[in-house]
Amino acid sequence: MSDSLVVLSVGGSLLNNGKPDADMAAKIAGALKSAGLPLGIVCGGGQQARKKAEKARKKSGSEFEADLAGIKITYKNADCLRKALGPEAGVKVFKDFKAARKAALSQKYVLMGGTIPGITTDADSALLAEALGAKRLVNLSNTAIYDSDPRTNPQAKKFSRMGYDELISLALKGDQRKAGTHFVFDMLACSLIARSKIETHFVDGRDLAQIQAAVLGQAHVGTVVCSNP
Ligand code: UTP
Repeated sequence: MSDSLVVLSVGGSLLNNGKPDADMAAKIAGALKSAGLPLGIVCGGGQQARKKAEKARKKSGSEFEADLAGIKITYKNADCLRKALGPEAGVKVFKDFKAARKAALSQKYVLMGGTIPGITTDADSALLAEALGAKRLVNLSNTAIYDSDPRTNPQAKKFSRMGYDELISLALKGDQRKAGTHFVFDMLACSLIARSKIETHFVDGRDLAQIQAAVLGQAHVGTVVCSNP
């Protein structure tokens, strides 16, 4: 495995507001290709996943089925980004970590969606970073990490750097918020990056210069979670 490999988690809201967004995928792919590093990439589900999950939940009364419906959309989004990245992204989206690890030996970009019901692509990206021995994980969503929700608190303070324990305390607070609001990175994902000391960068994925800086480990305006904050 290349020592320079970075793992990227692409939030579903960036790639899918009803259907996979090929234009946005092309923009993100352009930024990733100019960064030049080999990447393991996990894509989230976005709006379409929530809609399909809700439909499956109503029909089956099963959270397991709802999750499977969500996972299906994560594959579609990952496939859209795979196509935008071109031949170096291989011919398929991987559904398990060992297969992705094997593929990473021979192709520059390895794409994944969700894996099993009950978790999220936040956790999948942390697991892929562990599987590939990545030194850095980059989370693309629409926000960095704040001490409270910046959408409801104008005084919210952004963290430039923070430790794993601090992140876990914030995620625990987020867990107790009311349904429908959730913390940037879920609790399982936070525990995984903490146990493996994976340096994790949170940046706004709508800003292509920020994506590139974070992938390359350069200064950016988001948040870095690491052992030496
Ligand atoms: P995510 O919730 O991870 O995607 O996956 P997202 O759109 O980036 O998440 P937000 O924007 O933070 O909400 C979509 C859904 O797919 C299922 C879950 O139901 C999840 O909510 N999923 C995903 C799984 O069940 N297992 C996985 O490994 C990944």
